[in-house]
Amino acid sequence: MLSNLKRYFPKSFDTYYEPFLGGGAVFFHLMHNRPRFNAVLSDVNRELVETYCVVKNQVEELIETLMNHESEYKRDPRRYYYSVRTESGGSDPVGRAAHLIFLNKTCYNGLYRVNKKGQFNVPFGRFKNPKICDQRNLRTISKVLVWSNAKLLSLDYQIAIRGSGRGDFIYFDPPYHPTSSTANFTNYTGSGFSIEEQEQLGLLFRELDERGCQIVLSNSDTHKVRDIYEGYDIQTVEVLRAISCRSNKRKGHTELIISNLDSHVFS
Ligand SMILES: C[S@@+](CC[C@H](N)C(=O)[O-])C[C@H]1O[C@@H](n2cnc3c(N)ncnc32)[C@H](O)[C@@H]1O
Repeated sequence: MLSNLKRYFPKSFDTYYEPFLGGGAVFFHLMHNRPRFNAVLSDVNRELVETYCVVKNQVEELIETLMNHESEYKRDPRRYYYSVRTESGGSDPVGRAAHLIFLNKTCYNGLYRVNKKGQFNVPFGRFKNPKICDQRNLRTISKVLVWSNAKLLSLDYQIAIRGSGRGDFIYFDPPYHPTSSTANFTNYTGSGFSIEEQEQLGLLFRELDERGCQIVLSNSDTHKVRDIYEGYDIQTVEVLRAISCRSNKRKGHTELIISNLDSHVFS
């Protein structure tokens, strides 16, 4: 999506907000391409935000713990995967961060999904040689997080953007509105993201627009999403889906970029 999204990125902004952080693709892109800026990064998934904090502050301990996972995994991948999956991450933040990264690197399709009790329930992924401990990448991300001094918060998006105002830039990448009853991969936190929440986010988008914020949002291409953002610039883009249960469904699919900014040809 980045090549399409970046056409909407404003030339300048005060603070950058990414309240549905996930893997933070847009934040890392901006950090790579812009002078240093203030950023508020947040996600309702507490384990995810804690993992970013550990990457930022305790990267060497994290690497050591992940190396241990890597060597255990190599002995008997499937057995070790399920033994880690049934454990919790433990009481130590480094152990919990390593637990989350290990499962993400070795589970089916790198999917994050939990059941109603909040237990991770993705099956084993058949990878030949997964890079469980990518030391170089972890150290680079750690440096970027330290250098940027970005605020990392575990909050609902509505609370996380409360301090935003005129001149700030907000990128919303919510769990997508499902395109069919079987395409609902929105259960990141166990609570899902309902139609009412999509509507609520739409109302907030309008309020932030009136406040003078510069906003870009991505979502699935459905009638409902088009209705919610009626009146704004809505661009249809072709994308490859990163997550689908069938690989043939990962291509030839359209999504929407919605913004109150004009698109342009530079980023
Ligand atoms: C589509 S993913 C974001 C992907 C991200 N742009 C990336 O680069 O990987 C949506 C994220 O929203 C988070 N989320 C779901 N409900 C939320 C809420 N109410 N408030 C804040 N974050 C939420 C999920 O935990 C998930 O990480």
